[in-house]
Amino acid sequence: MGYIQNANMKYSNFYFVLKLNLWYTEDCGFDYITNESGYFTVKKIVCDSYEDVCSYAADIYAAQLKDKPDSVLGLATGSTPVGLYKELSRRYSKGEIDFSKAESFNLDEYYPIDPKHPQSYDYFMRENLFDKINMSKFQIPNGGAPDPIAECTRYDSEIDKAGGIDLMLLGIGLNGHIGFNEPAVSYPAGTYLVNLTESSIEANSRFFGPGEHQPVTALTMGIGHIFKSRKVLLLISGAAKADITKKLFEGKIHTDIPACFLLLHPNVTVIVDKAANGE
Ligand code: F6R
Repeated sequence: MGYIQNANMKYSNFYFVLKLNLWYTEDCGFDYITNESGYFTVKKIVCDSYEDVCSYAADIYAAQLKDKPDSVLGLATGSTPVGLYKELSRRYSKGEIDFSKAESFNLDEYYPIDPKHPQSYDYFMRENLFDKINMSKFQIPNGGAPDPIAECTRYDSEIDKAGGIDLMLLGIGLNGHIGFNEPAVSYPAGTYLVNLTESSIEANSRFFGPGEHQPVTALTMGIGHIFKSRKVLLLISGAAKADITKKLFEGKIHTDIPACFLLLHPNVTVIVDKAANGE
């Protein structure tokens, strides 16, 4: 069934098929998903609720920072990580987790946007996490930079200087985007300026008030940074994500579902709640 057509094909035709086996363990809700020839293995954890997803993810952060206190964390915005950030802040305030030696890089930022704008991802991160924990080194692409291309180059070199990302947190868009890597025929490896798709603009319009300007372009880490991350953690929650979750685990690598590339990464954990798992 698998085939790759010539390079001029429409991206929706560009896929090959990897057969999936699901191994259920006694510990209900915990699967490894692999293809027959072992080219990839994705750890999938199905939790009863969004709260459980966040708590499980927070355990992964706690273990990561215990193991490597100076971890470089890749962080995401949007609705999905809000509960995780709340849980991490709670654990920090109880002295259960320490971010003092860690540093972070966010996946993306609208462009152009003033970092102080309430809808900027810079603002979101301060409100939801950075103002509540003891991590002093954090970076977000600068939506106010005068030259977006120079900003992408600067951001890439900062990530490289930090030694790359140890644990990359991702959410998934309804169209399968990760970061703002939107469905496309090809993807830049490094940080780049991207035109947002109608689907993403529509999905994020809920954060903007009536008449408020909503940027239609963004700066995003490319697929290369996500791939070079030593571990990837993808969180998926809610019935609205059930379709894209199903597609993700069909085992086809489409370029029009960017998250599918994660199936080829050697260390990916996906935590979904039952609603997103279609249960
Ligand atoms: C955010 C990001 C996006 C979101 C995705 C899901 O930094 O990179 O890929 O993770 O759009 O957003 P929510 O969680 O709002 O459904």
